[in-house]
Amino acid sequence: MTGARHAAGPLWHSVMETGRLVVKRVESAAELEAALDLRTRVFVREQGVPIEEEADEHDASATHVIALTGGRVVGTGRAVFPTQLPPRPTDGEARDTGVQTTPGQVRIGRMAVEQAWRRCGVGSRVLEALEAEARRVGMEEAVLAAQTNATGFYASHGYREEGAVFPDAGIDHILMRKRL
Ligand SMILES: CC(C)(COP(=O)(O)OP(=O)(O)OC[C@H]1O[C@@H](n2cnc3c(N)ncnc32)[C@H](O)[C@@H]1OP(=O)(O)O)[C@@H](O)C(=O)NCCC(=O)NCCS
Repeated sequence: MTGARHAAGPLWHSVMETGRLVVKRVESAAELEAALDLRTRVFVREQGVPIEEEADEHDASATHVIALTGGRVVGTGRAVFPTQLPPRPTDGEARDTGVQTTPGQVRIGRMAVEQAWRRCGVGSRVLEALEAEARRVGMEEAVLAAQTNATGFYASHGYREEGAVFPDAGIDHILMRKRL
C-alpha cells in the first residue's frame, strides 16, 4: 500500500479529526478495499468510467487517504510518488493521460466523495491530507488531471490549469498544478 519511504510518520499518528469526520491514511487491506468500493460507486456507476480503467497498477504502491464517518468511507484520494511511476513515455498510456511527473512532483488523483456528502468539505480534507503527506516526504509540486467539471474544486485549493483539455476514460480533463 505504501512504500517504506512513506512509512507512517508523526503527521499520521495524529489522525486528523473534526467532529464526526476522520481523515486518515489507508493502512489495511480492508481500508483499501473500502476506498476502491467508493471509487467504483463514483467513477464506474455514476460517471460511466470502464471498470477495467478504474483501478490500476499504481493502487498497490500509492498512498491512499480515506475520510470516514460512522465507520463508513465517504471520501478518498491517492498520491503517487515519482519513484512509484513508470518512466516516460509509458506513463502516459494509463488513465491520467497527460499527467507526467518529474522528481519532486507528486501526482494526486482518484479523488471521490460519496454523492450525499459533497460540498461538505470532505474532498478538501482528503486533498489537504494528501498534500500534507507529499510535503512531509519532500515533494515540491502536485500535479493532477482534473475533470473539467471539478476544476473549481482544485482551483479553490490553489491549483492552476495548464494546457489543453484532453479526454480520458470518455471524460474531459485538464492538467492542473500547484506548488506545495
Ligand atoms: C470533486 C469532489 C472530489 C469535491 O469534493 P467535495 O467534498 O464535494 O468538495 P468540498 O466540499 O471540499 O469543496 C470545497 C470547495 O471546492 C469548490 N467545489 C467543490 N466541488 C465543486 C464543483 N463540482 N464545481 C466547482 N467548484 C467546486 C467549492 O468552492 C467548494 O466550496 P463551497 O462548497 O464552500 O462552495 C467531489 O465533488 C466528487 O467526488 N465528485 C465526483 C468525482 C469527481 O469528479 N472527482 C474528481 C476527479 S478529477
